[in-house]
Amino acid sequence: CPRVVELTHLATLYHDDVMDEADVRRGVPSANARWGNSVAVLTGDFLFARASHILADLGPEAVRIQAEAFERLVTGQILETAGPKGGRDPIEHYLDVLAGKTGSLVAVSGRFGAMMSGADESVVSILTQYGERLGIAFQLADDVLDIASDSHESGKTPGTDLREGIATLPVLHLRAQAEATGSAEDRELCELLAGDLSDDGVLGEVLRRLRAHPALEQARRDTLRYAAEARALLAPLPEGAAKAALEGLCDAVVHRAG
Ligand code: IPE
Ligand code: MG
Ligand code: MG
Repeated sequence: CPRVVELTHLATLYHDDVMDEADVRRGVPSANARWGNSVAVLTGDFLFARASHILADLGPEAVRIQAEAFERLVTGQILETAGPKGGRDPIEHYLDVLAGKTGSLVAVSGRFGAMMSGADESVVSILTQYGERLGIAFQLADDVLDIASDSHESGKTPGTDLREGIATLPVLHLRAQAEATGSAEDRELCELLAGDLSDDGVLGEVLRRLRAHPALEQARRDTLRYAAEARALLAPLPEGAAKAALEGLCDAVVHRAG
C-alpha cells in the first residue's frame, strides 16, 4: 500500500519533470535531462503499471480510491497548465491546483494507512483531511523554496518554476499587491517575471528582488496556516507515538530545506 502511493508519486515526478523541463531532481540530473523526454515518460508509465499491479491485489475499493486520487492529481496538473479561466481569482485557482496535484495523493496515503490498519470511519476521515492539508502545505513550502533556497539545500535549481512561467503563490501575491498599490517597482518586477528568464543574470535579479519582497513572507504565512490546520485536525485522535509523529510532520514540511 505505501508502495502504491510512492510508485505513483515517483511516476508523476518523472512526468512532471518533462512538463516543467526540470534539469535537476533530488540533487541529481532528472531522468529527462539524462535520457531524454521519451525515456522519462515511458519510465513514468512503467512505474504507473507497477503501482496498478500492486493495487490489484488490494481489492476493488483500494483501486477505486487510488483511481479517484489519481484523477484529481492529473486534473490538478491540467488546471495548472491551463491557468485560471473566466476571470477566476488566480489565488483560488492556484490553491485548487495544489489540492489536486498534491493534496490528493497525500490524502490517499492517510486514508490507506488508516483503512489498512483497521481504524474506524471517523479516523479514516480525519487522516484523509489531514493528508489533504499537509499536502497543500508541503507544496506551498516547495513553491517558497523555489524562490528562497539555493540549489545546494533543495536539490533543485532555484527559479525553475519562475522560468517555466508557473505563477506560484509568492508571485500571485506579488501581482495582487502590485495591482492594489500600483507600485512602479512591483509592476516592473511583474513584467520581469512575465518576460524571458532564460538568462541566469536576469533570473538572479528576479530571485533577489522576490526574496526581499513581502509577497514571499505572505506565502510563508499561508504555508504555516495550512500546516496548522492539518495539525488541528488531529486533535480528536488519541495521544501517542503515532499522533506525535503526524504532528511532527506538520513542522517538518514547512521547515524543510529541500
Ligand atoms: C510536482 O509539482 C508534481 C506533482 C505534485 C504531481 P511541481 O512541479 O510543482 O513540483 P516540483 O518542484 O517539480 O517538485
Ligand atoms: Mg515540477
Ligand atoms: Mg509541475
